[in-house]
Amino acid sequence: MTDTSSPNKYDIIVPCEPDPQAATAECLFERPRDSCCIVILGATGDLTARKLMPALFNLYQHGGLPKPFAVVGCGRTRLDTPGFHKKMETAVGRVFHPDRSRWDVFAANLFYQPISFDDPASFEDLSRYLADLDKKNGLGGNRLFYFALPPSLYPKIAQMLGGAGLGHEHQDGNGWSRLVVEKPFGRNLKTAIDLDRSIHHYFGEEQIFRIDHYLAKETVQNILMFRFANAVFEPIWNRRYIDHVGIIATETLGIENRADYYEQAGVLRDMFQNHMMQILALIAMEPPSSFSAERVRDEKTKTHRSLRPFPAERLSDFLVLGQYGSGTRDGKTAPAYRQEPGVHPDSLVPTFAMMKLFIDNWRWQGVPFYLTSGKRLSRKLTRISIRFKGVPHSMFRQTLGETIIANQLVLGIFPEEKITLTFQTKTPGVRVKLRSVTMDFHYYQDQDGPFLDAYEKVLQDCMLGDQMLFWRQDDVEACWSFLTPILEGCEACRDRARLLHAYEAGTWGPAVIEKLWPDILPKSA
Ligand code: BG6
Repeated sequence: MTDTSSPNKYDIIVPCEPDPQAATAECLFERPRDSCCIVILGATGDLTARKLMPALFNLYQHGGLPKPFAVVGCGRTRLDTPGFHKKMETAVGRVFHPDRSRWDVFAANLFYQPISFDDPASFEDLSRYLADLDKKNGLGGNRLFYFALPPSLYPKIAQMLGGAGLGHEHQDGNGWSRLVVEKPFGRNLKTAIDLDRSIHHYFGEEQIFRIDHYLAKETVQNILMFRFANAVFEPIWNRRYIDHVGIIATETLGIENRADYYEQAGVLRDMFQNHMMQILALIAMEPPSSFSAERVRDEKTKTHRSLRPFPAERLSDFLVLGQYGSGTRDGKTAPAYRQEPGVHPDSLVPTFAMMKLFIDNWRWQGVPFYLTSGKRLSRKLTRISIRFKGVPHSMFRQTLGETIIANQLVLGIFPEEKITLTFQTKTPGVRVKLRSVTMDFHYYQDQDGPFLDAYEKVLQDCMLGDQMLFWRQDDVEACWSFLTPILEGCEACRDRARLLHAYEAGTWGPAVIEKLWPDILPKSA
């Protein structure tokens, strides 16, 4: 695939003056050069209130939005622009307290246009509304359409936008036109291909931004820098020196009123098909030839294409699924998954999975990768542990008579954003004795903000036209090709209930893990 991305944003640093009232004197953000209108489809929903509007306001405060800009909220709710302002101010106020005068200036750029999602005439109205706004506010016809909607509506909305001519770029008064799509991208390989086909009817691949908010986390972005801006790690980053890799993303939260979605998704679609696969690729990929969206995404896709398929008849040798029972959370009793509102009382949907997988290439042959994610577990923890092989020969065996603990490198993503390396040293004193010590680096050490949170980062990258942190369709398909047979194997299994292990909320998951794969999950709370 050729590199079609517009000039790499890392080549053009567009200096931006910060908002004069902003808290910091220095602007650390890049202001997108192109003026832009951000159209949020589903503007009265939860995602807009919790994530998008606070992120846009923060970007604005730090000079990270273009000049001029506009945000047009679209939704089924009959609202006018002042009503939308009020709603958004309340929403942002739930996340942080916005400075009144800055909010007023920001809000002067917020508009609302009611829409009926299945009516082509309503999209024609939107098109005219946007054209008027362009003229009045000098927005240059550049538009970012954010799908903050249930995924079942994606194909229809793409078709409606396209039908109203809003997918055309650089003609009929339009500038660029981009779509921002939230996961899930389909529920298996076939539906992912179908979804893509319907979006591609009116939009080209370079117009589509498929979000994975994990990729926008600072410490996740840092994985590439850590691996490829240092010469010391790459020579040992392979099967000769690495024994196994653990990738963990555990949560204490349950499904939090998302039963409708979660009953359809389960942990494999909710966390594995996206976030876990992306972290895996960042750890396992080959060095890209350049730090550009296409070259980086080429390497990730190659890694996913090298995943060894699971033998259908031996699923349980490679996969443990679990579902949370009741337990305690913050001192209160927490309901079992099957007692959550909206969940079927006999649901067999997994809320926990641990998977042992292999990558069939020269670098990783024979090295197991253990991927674990689950809800209502002991701790919210996201981290990657690289366990190196033990020393090939212990010259201390006679003297110390003890096992030498292998080196471990841990890349902490949350809550501890730090990198640690554990190694052995002599214990000071007369006795010859080993002790394990840890060297650490805290990611934010010696750095003052402002920093972009994940949604601020993805919104800004969409405006900059940088697809580095977004999924490319061939990679979406590579991951579905790996996961679809596993999902089908689990869902078709006659003994499906036996595949699913119950675990008590607040623990580290099903007890069977300890027997099968000890040492991968933390032991203590
Ligand atoms: C989302 C999943 O994509 O990621 C949620 O749908 C999950 O179920 C969330 O809770 C976890 O994200 P984070 O950033 O809190 O680790």
